[in-house]
Amino acid sequence: MADTDGLLDARTFQPGRPVADAFHVKGAQAQDWGLQNRLSRIFRPDTGRTVMLAFDHGYFVGPMAGLEQLDVNIAPLVPDADAIMMTRGALRTSIPSHSSAGVVLRASGGPSILRELSDEHLALDIEDAVRLNAAALAIQVFIGGEHESRSVANLARLVDAGQRHGVAVLGVTAVGKDMVRDARYFRLATRISAEMGAHVVKTYYVEEGFETVTASCPVPIIVAGGKKLPELDALTMAYRSIQEGAAGVDMGRNIFQSDHPAAMLAAVRAVVHAGAKPEEAYELFREHSAGHAAS
Ligand code: R5P
Repeated sequence: MADTDGLLDARTFQPGRPVADAFHVKGAQAQDWGLQNRLSRIFRPDTGRTVMLAFDHGYFVGPMAGLEQLDVNIAPLVPDADAIMMTRGALRTSIPSHSSAGVVLRASGGPSILRELSDEHLALDIEDAVRLNAAALAIQVFIGGEHESRSVANLARLVDAGQRHGVAVLGVTAVGKDMVRDARYFRLATRISAEMGAHVVKTYYVEEGFETVTASCPVPIIVAGGKKLPELDALTMAYRSIQEGAAGVDMGRNIFQSDHPAAMLAAVRAVVHAGAKPEEAYELFREHSAGHAAS
């Protein structure tokens, strides 16, 4: 029998006090609780930003420098990333299941670097994504590419599945060899992805007009690192991206191909979450690398 004797009457009310703060991820105010919760595993509620460590490259290039053995090269970095982006094969085989980083699963695939890269299909079922506790699914969108329409249709189907299950979708702007990487192109590509329902869009930084790319996209933009640069240059790119409206980075080679990946990850975190200037973050990188070399 329920113990109902002596129940205290409710007596503390604070009329006028807001029920909850505004949600911290751009464009997601109207999403359901589960999807917002998953987005919060990617974007830190205190800063609204993310440092996503990308190591999905093997899905079309095979092993590359820095990704020779994911359990050796990457698993030790995972605790310091807000989110991780990889294939389900990489996740199941090489990443500890006690990791707390938000899981962003690569959901498209097909061609290798030996073929036409835009010839992609959906390569993951939503049921498996939920089984793997994915916060988001990532899919390449080839605007202007040979298989543009199919890639946009793939994105739309993935958003349908994601909305049904409360899983976010990350639209990845794929730039073909013949595409001009300028703000005009990225405004087009990112806006199409967002309008087709992507909850987050990944693109590249451009020196001219990047703020127009972030302003015209109604969901958060995160910036890919691209090919390996000297550390100070990569930190400068990350800094400018954030200053010009990006909500974080989705960085791979500039972290895992550094001679000191953990130090680089710490420096990127300082830029993204603490607003460190590139030179300050580079100093942090040098200190961490020296500490690591000495230990
Ligand atoms: C492309 O292969 C993947 O989507 C990568 O995750 C993305 O390009 C980010 O990696 P990186 O910083 O190496 O460009």
